Amino acid sequence: MRTVIEPFKVKVVEPIRATTREQRRAALEAAGWNLFGLDSQDVLVDLLTDSGTGAMSSEQWAALMRGDEAYAGSASFHRFESVVRELTGFEHVIPTHQGRAAERILFGELARPGDVVPNNRHFDTTRANVEYQQAEARDLIRPEARDLTAELPFKGDMDVDALEATIAEVGRDRIPCVTITVTDNSGGGQPVSLANVRAVRQVCDHHRLPLFLDAARFAENAWFITRREDGQQDRDPREVARELFRLADGCWISLKKDGLGNIGGVLALDDPELAERCRAMLILTEGFPTYGGLAGRDLDALAQGLIEVTDPAYLGYRVRTAEYLAELAWDAGIPTVRPPGGHAVYLDARGLLPHIPPHAYPGQALACELYLTGGVRGVEIGTLMFGRTRADGTDEPAPYDLVRLALPRRTYTQSHVDYVGEVLAEVATRAEQLRGLEIVSQPAMLRHFTARLRPLADAGG
Ligand code: F0G
Repeated sequence: MRTVIEPFKVKVVEPIRATTREQRRAALEAAGWNLFGLDSQDVLVDLLTDSGTGAMSSEQWAALMRGDEAYAGSASFHRFESVVRELTGFEHVIPTHQGRAAERILFGELARPGDVVPNNRHFDTTRANVEYQQAEARDLIRPEARDLTAELPFKGDMDVDALEATIAEVGRDRIPCVTITVTDNSGGGQPVSLANVRAVRQVCDHHRLPLFLDAARFAENAWFITRREDGQQDRDPREVARELFRLADGCWISLKKDGLGNIGGVLALDDPELAERCRAMLILTEGFPTYGGLAGRDLDALAQGLIEVTDPAYLGYRVRTAEYLAELAWDAGIPTVRPPGGHAVYLDARGLLPHIPPHAYPGQALACELYLTGGVRGVEIGTLMFGRTRADGTDEPAPYDLVRLALPRRTYTQSHVDYVGEVLAEVATRAEQLRGLEIVSQPAMLRHFTARLRPLADAGG
């Protein structure tokens, strides 16, 4: 087989700056050993997130120039609306400035205190928006998916029996909607099968419950379906994506991912009465319904991005990049979540650094060392992000300590990925020398964004 090449050529370049280990150490020190505190100028290959960090195509840049900035009735909105309708089939298209704004509006209208919202696995902002309504965000991921290394083709699937059991336990009146995240970001970018969405739909029909998709990475999910699901092999990913959407009553999408945009989101649904209420909230907090917190030019570029993202050449390259990076990690002896996801590789820091206990943040130790060694920035997803502080001041460990290396879309080339592989290999040879960290100061909520840490003199055992 030939190399899967980037299916584009480069028209605009942005320099990235190499630094020395000493410079990086000073930058990290100043940032309180928190990679969110770094200046992007001090990062060489930035794999912090795939959200809003991608490169736009020449057609998207042309669309920016076409942007109609009218407050009401903008032509850019109509282009956006027609692409979203064509893709999702939903009648009501409500633009928002990003995914979590759509979540806040939707759950603000649907969820009441004491309700339960089932999901295969909530992304953090989704969970926070459900909990903000004093409702419970319940994850119903299939139990086999809790094993980081279980090689399952659709590790994002919802446990349908657990959904039935939840409905029987709490009663349908306390369930405002059922939700599915495609792909399951918190679980490692794992796809959901078409068969699973169909099965969930049947349960929803039986209990007359609406189904909403969190479709941030719908195109990557559709691509995995065409690669891995029986009977789906010859299908066009866009056709599969359409079918996925049509199984639901509505969706929200962070368009900073598979919208191929730098900013944007959308809420799309069929129920006219709910759409009316959501639009009222939109006007209150985001903007008039034909722009919803976005510039006309953003809407135009997103409409174009939503057309490009289901191109099989793009998706084949995209998913291969993550797989290729995972192979480099395995070659270096670094365990990862398996199989690799569509948008990122999740390194198992606890597996690589068994001498650093969870309360000394092995994920953060690995993420910091990747930065110090090669200027590569990832993000800890583990005890720093999710661990709760017990009454005695010690940390309750998170179930895993991972480092996510997320791939911005169409931004880096294969040699950047090779370089990251070299950095991984170098760090792996020194794994036993890595030390833990301790927190110096932290805010009351979402501590991983702003906490300040310092390295320990030992592993932290
Ligand atoms: N849903 C999923 C599955 C996501 O991954 C994200 C964002 C959101 C909703 C919220 O969208 O950022 O546009 O408000 N994920 C980013 C990440 C932040 O880095 O994975 P948003």
